[in-house]
Amino acid sequence: MSAANGALGFPDGFVWGSATAAYQIEGAADIDGKGPSVWDTFSHAPGNVRGGDTGDIACDSYRRYREDVALMASLGLKAYRFSISWPRVQPGGRGPANQKGLDYYRALLDELAGHGIAATVTLYHWDLPQELQDAGGWPVREVAERFADYAALCAQALGDRVTRWITLNEPQVVANNGYRHGQHAPGLKDDSAAAATTHHLLLGHGLATQALRAAGAAEVGITLDLHPIRVLGDGRPGDVEAARVITDALVNGIYLEPVLHGRYPAPAPADMLPPPALVADGDLTTINQPLDFLGVNYYSPIFLRAGDPADLRRNEERSRSGVPGVVEYRPGELERTTMGWLVDADGLYDLLQEVSKQAPGLPLYITENGRAAEDYVNPQGQVDDIERVRYLNSHLEACARAIRDGVSLAGYFVWSLMDNFEWAWGYQKRFGIVYVDFGTQRRIPKSSAHFYSEVVRANAVPRSAPA
Ligand code: FCB
Repeated sequence: MSAANGALGFPDGFVWGSATAAYQIEGAADIDGKGPSVWDTFSHAPGNVRGGDTGDIACDSYRRYREDVALMASLGLKAYRFSISWPRVQPGGRGPANQKGLDYYRALLDELAGHGIAATVTLYHWDLPQELQDAGGWPVREVAERFADYAALCAQALGDRVTRWITLNEPQVVANNGYRHGQHAPGLKDDSAAAATTHHLLLGHGLATQALRAAGAAEVGITLDLHPIRVLGDGRPGDVEAARVITDALVNGIYLEPVLHGRYPAPAPADMLPPPALVADGDLTTINQPLDFLGVNYYSPIFLRAGDPADLRRNEERSRSGVPGVVEYRPGELERTTMGWLVDADGLYDLLQEVSKQAPGLPLYITENGRAAEDYVNPQGQVDDIERVRYLNSHLEACARAIRDGVSLAGYFVWSLMDNFEWAWGYQKRFGIVYVDFGTQRRIPKSSAHFYSEVVRANAVPRSAPA
């Protein structure tokens, strides 16, 4: 596995790709029969998105997909993770397909195939058809069934062209940001709606997985955003360890355990779990479908230490575990991105080890990893995003080390192929390895794109620091 010049090599056949999501890049919000999604509604309501930005135009990739696929090919990328907009192919979230919507995805898939790029398709990256939200949204059990119908429809129409299906992207974010705290569509602040959403998303995942398999789909998995819960320093006082277990259950276990083991995590406080009345007999078996892989999105860890929640120090916050004498904190020595997210490549290594302990041998894919930075076009016309190069270097090293140490990591998708609509932050936060000038839609590969392209070509990552 060790490549020339001390670089760390990846196994043959390692899948190198980039990722995007429909609402963040497509634009074309209401053409060719597309129905509105909750994100169309949410972004158009004043005050929800920074600067009043919407996804109406975004990267205009609905029209420019050929250029975008050519860009990936020029970088040597071998895989593309994108999402299907549910209301583009089923405008109201139920009933017959909108043929023009399917035609678009078929054309995109053909274009990818023509360039030798394998498609990983996410069915749900947050753009619920507004009509289903009007009928109650994810807190209503029936939405899980509609999601399975939509999955079957996509697999029947597009399955021959898709290598890998992902049912849901980050259900944790949908439940918490969308239904509990309201920063994301549909903007609700309702604990019981959030708890029901958690269960119905998971049920939707199980039913959709069955539907995809019945339609002959190739590989099926789910993408979870996972956060290693870290404790620095020597020793781990009992209450910090107790808080670690609860925090892990709340943030990761709530999704990971039902999917992998068919149960909700015992350490999670009951009021954060779906109420037993919502969990029908057999639901957890339905949720616990055999998977071909698990998609892991990694951005940031959560740190815990002993502290006083009633007397918080610099960089400390209350612990969501509620355990007395413990606080969450953000170590001052770690870099933060422009999102305020901690940069911690060791956290990725730990996370991969942890997940592979829980799912021995299950192929893992990093389906998102990346960072926001203050990118700009310099007078030479270049975008020299050294922070992102450093970030990718250290995180890819963490991946290579994890593989060396036995983790079955099968691929990596950088978030994101290009700058795009970053949800509540609009276009202010840039995550792309390709810069987008939104006024002209000009694409400029950043230094990180050239770096990543070199890694893909060599199937190896240079060492960023002595190991
Ligand atoms: C993830 C989302 C993705 C993107 C990144 C930065 O939570 O899945 O769409 O916004 O964060």
